[in-house]
Amino acid sequence: MKNISIIGLQWGDEGKGKIVDYLAKDYKTIVRFQGGPNAGHTVYVNNKKYVFHQLPSGLLWGNKKGIIGSGVVLDIETLKKEIEQIKDINFKLIIDYRANIILPYHKLEDEMEESMGGIGSTKRGISQAYRDKYARIGIRVFDVLNEDRLKIALKRNYEFNRALISSRYSKEIMSFDEVYEYVLSFKNFLLEFSSDAQYEILNEKEGIIFEGAQGTLLDITFGTYPFVTSSHTITSGIGISLGIPLNIIDENIGVFKAYTTRVGKGPFPTELNDEIGEYIRNKGNEYGSTTGRARRCGWLDLVLLKYAVLMNNINYLILTKLDVLFGLSEVKVCVAYEYKNNIVDFPPVYDLENVKPIYKTFKGFDSVEGASEYISFIESYLNRKIVFVSYGFEREAMLKL
Ligand code: IMP
Repeated sequence: MKNISIIGLQWGDEGKGKIVDYLAKDYKTIVRFQGGPNAGHTVYVNNKKYVFHQLPSGLLWGNKKGIIGSGVVLDIETLKKEIEQIKDINFKLIIDYRANIILPYHKLEDEMEESMGGIGSTKRGISQAYRDKYARIGIRVFDVLNEDRLKIALKRNYEFNRALISSRYSKEIMSFDEVYEYVLSFKNFLLEFSSDAQYEILNEKEGIIFEGAQGTLLDITFGTYPFVTSSHTITSGIGISLGIPLNIIDENIGVFKAYTTRVGKGPFPTELNDEIGEYIRNKGNEYGSTTGRARRCGWLDLVLLKYAVLMNNINYLILTKLDVLFGLSEVKVCVAYEYKNNIVDFPPVYDLENVKPIYKTFKGFDSVEGASEYISFIESYLNRKIVFVSYGFEREAMLKL
């Protein structure tokens, strides 16, 4: 059985949840390797909608193993609610000892920072939890299992965050005893579900899906910094987030929408601030599954997509939400940029504010078959095969090409 990764090739919201669910039928283990409850992976089964923020998608088939890997930041309250949501389904869950925990004041801080300007985060305390991780003052799942260890680690974390919140935002936070009790209240839960997931993954023989969250252009280093998330969303991130060699992965599957969206601030060369953008937003229901925010919409950007295909070593592509474009009289794709008086087809991602998209225009289409010219063009531009087209939210609305 092959190990595969499912990677978002745009700014997130490519429909990875549905794809992971679809492919998970034939797999036993699904691993979330980065991000946290900023993700909102939506899966529809039997007309019921599930949104996974922390749990891997793909558990709905029953008898699957879900792993929350070491590179994830974990909101345990959210996770417990999600588990409750699927309590009738049999699955095994493993949370890595090394995953860092999002604390209540991380969320408060994220909200305060956003109210002062910010980058348009999901306000889930993601960047604050990762900051503490890299400052070596984070609280790991393993710390919660031992009260003495937790007290020492939490004291440092608490003092740092209290001072920061009081000086920068003039806010008082909960007392140390309150936060200590709060975290400790998860001890039994974590005793039940936590383990060494790196060991599990390195010794798994039956095939794994590595489920990416967010998207390539939100990668902390290679995305549109600073308008990015705080983890490595690209395939290289799988190795570093989980402590595994990348050659464990046989195939990287890239998921992209037939158009582009992004939430939050930041450059977006093909953005449509007109009635077509509005049409796509309404028809595609482009509102955040985590925050409800309206997503910014625009044409497909093949320059950025090619960058994502190369950077992630993508073997195959899956095209989603093609149906949203049905009915438009014409459809455009960006094939190059004008940048500093030159025509370029490799994106200056660090200076994306200053590119001007150059488009190729296609006649509109009303079906997957009718879009064959559009699909073939994308395949030849990216030099990769599109193996599935998703054309609706239901599990069954998938066409194998
Ligand atoms: P954060 O990850 O909450 O810190 O947000 C940083 C940026 O990433 C913001 O622009 C968010 O809108 C965006 N973002 C984070 N998670 C997702 C996601 O799952 N889908 C789309 N955008 C996301």
